[in-house]
Formats: sequence, C-alpha cells, structure tokens
Amino acid sequence: MTNQVKIFDTTLRDGEQALLASLSAKEKLQIALALERLGVDIMEAGFPVSSPGDFNSVQMIAREVKNSIVCGLARAVEADIDACGNALKVADQFRIHTFLATSDIHIEHKLRKTRDQVIDMAVGAIKYARRYTDDVEFSCEDAGRTDIDYLCRVVEAAINAGANTINIPDTVGYTIPTEFGNIVTNLMNRVPNIDKATISVHCHNDLGLAVANSLAAVEQGARQVECTMNGIGERAGNTSLEEIAMILQTRESLLGLKSNINSTEIHRTSKLVSQLCNMPVQSNKAIVGTNAFSHSSGIHQDGVLKAQNTYEIMTPESVGINKNNLNMTSRSGRHVIKHRLEELGYKPEDYDLEAVYAAFLELADKKGQVYDYDLEALLFFDQQKHDS
Ligand code: KIV
Ligand code: ZN
Repeated sequence: MTNQVKIFDTTLRDGEQALLASLSAKEKLQIALALERLGVDIMEAGFPVSSPGDFNSVQMIAREVKNSIVCGLARAVEADIDACGNALKVADQFRIHTFLATSDIHIEHKLRKTRDQVIDMAVGAIKYARRYTDDVEFSCEDAGRTDIDYLCRVVEAAINAGANTINIPDTVGYTIPTEFGNIVTNLMNRVPNIDKATISVHCHNDLGLAVANSLAAVEQGARQVECTMNGIGERAGNTSLEEIAMILQTRESLLGLKSNINSTEIHRTSKLVSQLCNMPVQSNKAIVGTNAFSHSSGIHQDGVLKAQNTYEIMTPESVGINKNNLNMTSRSGRHVIKHRLEELGYKPEDYDLEAVYAAFLELADKKGQVYDYDLEALLFFDQQKHDS
C-alpha cells in the first residue's frame, strides 16, 4: 500500500457553505490559487448546481488551476452531475464527487427510501458521472452512523459501478477515533474489491475529534483526507488541513506516511482564508494561531534560546513564519531581556542588566505584556541615571 496520503481540500465547498456571506468568484479564485501553491492534491471548488454564481466560479477555477485536480460536488441525481461535468470539463484534470446518505436515520427520515433503493441510486449516479470522467468519488453521507454490514454492501456496489475514491464521512462528528478507525478496518477486510479504490475520510468537528478521527482512519489504511484551511466548515467545522499536514510531517518517522503539502505555504494560506472568509483564527489554534509559536514562561523562553527543540516540536519556518515570539512578561527571565535588547541593537556593555531587569519586572507587574518600545524606554532611563 502507498505511503502517500492525498490531501483533498474542501475549503471552497464545505468551508464556504458555512460562511454567512459567500465569497466572490475573484476571492474564490485567489483561495484556489493559494491552495494550488500549498500543494493540495484535489480541491473541491464548489457545488455547481447550487447557483449560477457557484457554477461560474467552479468553471473559472477549473480553467486556471493546473497542478491540483479540481472537483465539484453533486447529489446522486443527473441534473447535479450534468452541472458538475459542464462546469469542470474545461479543466486539465477533474473529478466528480457524488454523494448519498447511507445511515438509516437519513434513509428513512430524509430520503424516505429503502436501503436497496439507495444502492440503486448510488450505482446509477456513479455510472452517469463516469460518462464525464473516469475520476469519480462517491461519499456515503453519515457513514459514521451507518450499519457496518450495509456500508460494506454500498461500498462494494459503488466500486463495481466505477467509483475509484470511496469517501467515508463522519457527517455529524459523532464517532470517536477507535470507532472510526474500525470502520476503515472493516472496509479494508470485508469489501472484496476495496483494492480498486482509495478510501477517503471526511470528518466533522462537533466533538473536537475531526483530526483525531482522520488520523485513526489513515493509520488503518485510508489514503485520502478531506479537510479545510483553518478547519472551517459546517457547524464546528471540518478536519483542519494544517493540523493533518503537520502531523504527517512532524511524525513521519512514526507513521511512515507523507503528503504533498508544501508546509512553508501554510501560514500565508491560513491568513488569506481567514481574511477573505471573515473568520478569525483563535489565538491558541494549533499551527496557525498567533500563539502557536509564542513562548511565555521564563523557563520555556530560556530553553528555546539555548536549543529551539526544547519547547518546539516543529520550527516556525517550517510553516512559513519567520521566527518564534518570546512574550516579555513578568514570567520572563534576564536571559530573554538581554537577548531581545541584543536583537534591538544594544550591546551588554551599554546598560546595567540588573537595573534594567528590576525596572522591567516592576513595569511587567503593572502592565502585563512589555513591548520593545517599553524596553527601550527603560534603557533610556537607565542611561540617564548613569549620566547624571
Ligand atoms: O459531511 C458530509 O457528509 C459531506 C459530504 C457531502 C461529503 O460534506
Ligand atoms: Zn462535510
């Protein structure tokens, strides 16, 4: 089995559908080009049948993006698949992603069908999509709550009908990692033609487990992860692209898996998505939060100044940030103050470290965070004292 995990980005589809104001076509293209630079294997550009605006932006992205497969979403009905095929046919490489719910809750209450009817509809939709392309993905919506024997039947039929990617969504973010990993293990062991398709996973974050569930699935043999930049998406969001990419990169020797993501593009892509989507990133968000590479405690600051890996498991440079940040607070020690003053151009012989540090602590106790200009003012007062 390959050790390459494909990154399927759905920022422009699942992510965008959760925004209060939709993005303009130009903004979507800007994000698509950033995702292409980031190295996503597949990008889901939208849901073409949903509106003329969505159709046009999917078409524009399909025309411009060359290095990622461009994908569109379609329900398992011909009109949706036609819209998808027509929007995408200008692309160098494209995929049609069609989906149908497979859990009894959805089959009975939403679709009002029987299990057998759902299989027939799925097979019909996949065969229809294959008229446009041989790259067809089928999603078993709400797979996380689907009876496992039935899920195996659906997946086998979908692969026989011509789907080469089978996506297993935890649509409502209900499962926990061992449980979700077991679904993939069952499919790997019980579906006779499973080697003819890539298993993909698509997790929602309702219980804060989207990344953990995706990782559990990958450890059991899934080789595509669907995710979004900054984890944006329906309700509590989707698997966060930056987290899954940095897990694969940082723990490569343990997991033995890789992705094609160019991690140094993560920071700027995250900023772009946050700004255009008007979705601030929480400061302590892993990888892309403003605090993710900041150190506050004096012990930690002293540690990273001596050797960065004492308290950093990945470098800021690896995600496209110039350097880490040492917050100057009452927890900071002399070492940090001296280091910061050196960065600001002051030599140790220019000032009395003990006196400046005492004044710094007094100020930090009152003010909390001490900034460079505060430090320079303290230095100025120290020099005045010596001069008088
Ligand atoms: O969450 C979900 O089930 C989806 C599907 C359309 C893949 O977004
Ligand atoms: Zn989803």
